[in-house]
Order: sequence, then C-alpha cells, then structure tokens
Amino acid sequence: MSKPSVSIVMGSANDWEIMQQAARQLQDFGVAFDARVISAHRSPDLLFDYIKEVSAQGVQCFIAGAGGAAHLAGVIAGKTTLPVLGVPIPSKYLKGMDSLLSIVQMPKGIPVATFAIGEAGAANAGLFAVAMLALNDAALAQKLVEYRKKQAEIIAATTLPAL
Ligand code: RP5
Repeated sequence: MSKPSVSIVMGSANDWEIMQQAARQLQDFGVAFDARVISAHRSPDLLFDYIKEVSAQGVQCFIAGAGGAAHLAGVIAGKTTLPVLGVPIPSKYLKGMDSLLSIVQMPKGIPVATFAIGEAGAANAGLFAVAMLALNDAALAQKLVEYRKKQAEIIAATTLPAL
C-alpha cells in the first residue's frame, strides 16, 4: 500500500456511512488515504498522537467528519498547519445544524474549510482534496477535468418524462 496522501478522521464508527463518500471519491481518483475513528472528546490523546504520526508520513490534508458538538475538525486544525476539511454529520435531534455550526464557526487564525451537511459534503470534501493534490499532479488534474466533463454530458443528455 502506498503512503496515504489524505487522512479521513471521524468521531464515531456511526459516521462512516456518510464519510465513506469521501473515501469513495479518493479511491475513484486513485488517491491513497487512511481512514480512522478518533474522537476529539473521547480520545483526545490518541488524536494528537495520530496527527503527528500521519503528518510525519506525508499526509497532505485532513478530512474530518463529526456530529453534534463537532469539535474534531477544529481541534485537528489547532494542531497542524495542513489544510483541514470539515464535514458536518447529520445528527438525530438537530439534523446536523449543530454539527455545521460547530465546524464552520472557527475563530480567526485557525481555518477549517467546511462542507455541506451529509453525503454531498463528504463527497465534495473528497473531491476538494483531490483538487488540492491535483495542483502538483498533472495526471490527477486531467482526471478531474474528465470527471467534470462526464457530469456535464449527463446533464446535457437528460430529458424529462412527458406530461
Ligand atoms: C460525535 O458524536 C461523532 O462524530 C458522532 O457523529 C456523534 C455521536 O457519536 P456516537 O454516539 O454515535 O458514537 O463525536
């Protein structure tokens, strides 16, 4: 297995249903990643050790998914200067609005790029990581162009059913 370029971290195994959308995008583009469950609240020491470990391995960015009082992305951002992409996981009672606001409202100086709540956010975080890596990888950039072209072709070929 090649060294991971992207780290996907989530606060609970229950987040994987959503976060696998990010993993799928990376896999489709042939980007090596590491995916882990580590909670900022339940296992903070493990989180700090992990950030050090994967940063030393050459990871280029983190995708962090968490729900509720979702501090995972922000805490990672506080411990590394690598880009951190935050994915708000839908929550039971507040439907992910709590997750979104927890992730997006970072204090000045410690940015987290925050994506949409749920599957689309996770998939787009994966695609955004690909786009960042593509800045220094012409073959990956070409794959992204083809991916976009395919989407445009699907829209152009879409017809509506008759009334
Ligand atoms: C967060 O708390 C996790 O990211 C998860 O979305 C939420 C609930 O965790 P579980 O109780 O489902 O493990 O830390």
